[in-house]
Amino acid sequence: MPSQNPYQALLSISEQINAVHDTSTLFDRIMDIAMETLKAERGFILLKSLSGKAEFEAVTARNISKETISSIRELSSSVVNQVLEKGEPVLTMDAQADQRFSGAESVLLQNIRSVVCTPLLRQNELIGAIYMDNRAGAGHFDEESVRFLQAFAGQAAIAIENARLFEKLQSENQRLKQQISLNTIFPEIIGTSAPIVHILEMVRDVAGSTATVLIEGESGTGKELVARALHYHSPRKENLFIPIFCGSLSENLLESELFGHKKGAFTGAIENKTGLFEQAHQGTLFLDEIADVNKNIQTKLLRVLQEGEIKRVGETAIRNVDVRIISAANKDLWQEVQTGNFREDLYYRLNVINIKMPPLRERKDDIPLLAEHFLQKFALQNKKKISGFTMEALELLKSYHWPGNIRELENSIERAVILAREPKIPAGLFNLHRPRPESDLAGKPLQEIEKYAILKTLELTGNNRTKTAQMLDVSRRWLQYRLKEWGIGEEQEQ
Ligand SMILES: Nc1ncnc2c1ncn2[C@@H]1O[C@H](COP(=O)(O)OP(=O)(O)OP(=O)(O)O)[C@@H](O)[C@H]1O
Ligand SMILES: [Mg+2]
Repeated sequence: MPSQNPYQALLSISEQINAVHDTSTLFDRIMDIAMETLKAERGFILLKSLSGKAEFEAVTARNISKETISSIRELSSSVVNQVLEKGEPVLTMDAQADQRFSGAESVLLQNIRSVVCTPLLRQNELIGAIYMDNRAGAGHFDEESVRFLQAFAGQAAIAIENARLFEKLQSENQRLKQQISLNTIFPEIIGTSAPIVHILEMVRDVAGSTATVLIEGESGTGKELVARALHYHSPRKENLFIPIFCGSLSENLLESELFGHKKGAFTGAIENKTGLFEQAHQGTLFLDEIADVNKNIQTKLLRVLQEGEIKRVGETAIRNVDVRIISAANKDLWQEVQTGNFREDLYYRLNVINIKMPPLRERKDDIPLLAEHFLQKFALQNKKKISGFTMEALELLKSYHWPGNIRELENSIERAVILAREPKIPAGLFNLHRPRPESDLAGKPLQEIEKYAILKTLELTGNNRTKTAQMLDVSRRWLQYRLKEWGIGEEQEQ
């Protein structure tokens, strides 16, 4: 036992351990003090893991291997388990003769004589245990040892909780600092949720390189916004960022758009034309809806990526271009490779860096911030004095599942701002309750339901057929065919 007054010893110990904020140093300090004071031969500290699982793990040990610790623990009748199960200290003067441990292999095997083990309790919650033993002889620890260890364990548990809390606050602080700096670098990209912070980190880290980036994500999740941020935070920012929507052009048109053509190369080619690759020289070309590009053009894109060379349609001369390529896909492009619609070699070339945009429903924490951002934008645009949303409106926005993601949120808020007559936008101005098929459409002919779904989705996407097809998970061709059947022609599309 401590030679000085035990209470004085305890006080000085408590001061010592409370000054340590780093958890691993703290565990070592606690172990050393306990071992020294009780003159123990071996020892370890077990703590409940922070992962939330009800598991205990050894955080520090003296003169005892990891394997031995687990063999001491695994036997249900052993000391440690008694402590962990009952939350009470255990003292044994001679383990070999102690009835409580009869049959406990660990004791016999390792010839343990004296054992003391105390729970680490924090407000009656068991957070771990301190174990010490002696193989040299019986009667090494006594009741006094247990009393000391119990008082000490109480102090230690508080110090451990504080140090863990301190570390948690420190890392949270770090995360917030990091996030503030990211939001300053990219003020146009709103969001503080973990998925968006991860994306901002990626954008910051890869913007400076010339690596290709493939941005995947549902409609309206901010793919183009991220592509622009990549360009405008790169050394290419003084040159052009050119977006091209690959999904809406026919093969021939897309080819001549991308690569240019020679006068007379085909009917209608009345002049020489510089393609977008040449226009975007030393800048960035954003290939939107890359999954819709056909095989012929895929081959030509591969050539640009491999050789940095293009040929205008109808020409044999080779031109060199230096263009960074960022592409975007609404569907899983790898899936398209699997089904044979997309060249695997091109996929790898385009996908050096992959960014997956999370749907809004997976980062609902960002909804109030985004809503506020759009509110200010549209209030300014429409010269309206609107200060915010009613609680009910905000709740509605947070609970909705946003199939059209941020674009749908943006459109809904624009509409509400235009219609608002009060300073706070009420829930009633959001038209988010779509008729549920089971109540409104049950019993109706399937064809009618199909037509309803298609027309409603067209409305939602602002008449964009590619997006409508994607949302309904049908091919664009199938959609065109249906619309044609109903006499809704191509020319009506925006
Ligand atoms: N994090 C964000 N902060 C602020 N505005 C955003 C954010 N993400 C998206 N937006 C806005 O939402 C709208 C849709 O974004 P964007 O056009 O980049 O999406 P997209 O993924 O390219 O959509 P689509 O697949 O339909 O082409 C844009 O007006 C964009 O400015
Ligand atoms: Mg887009």
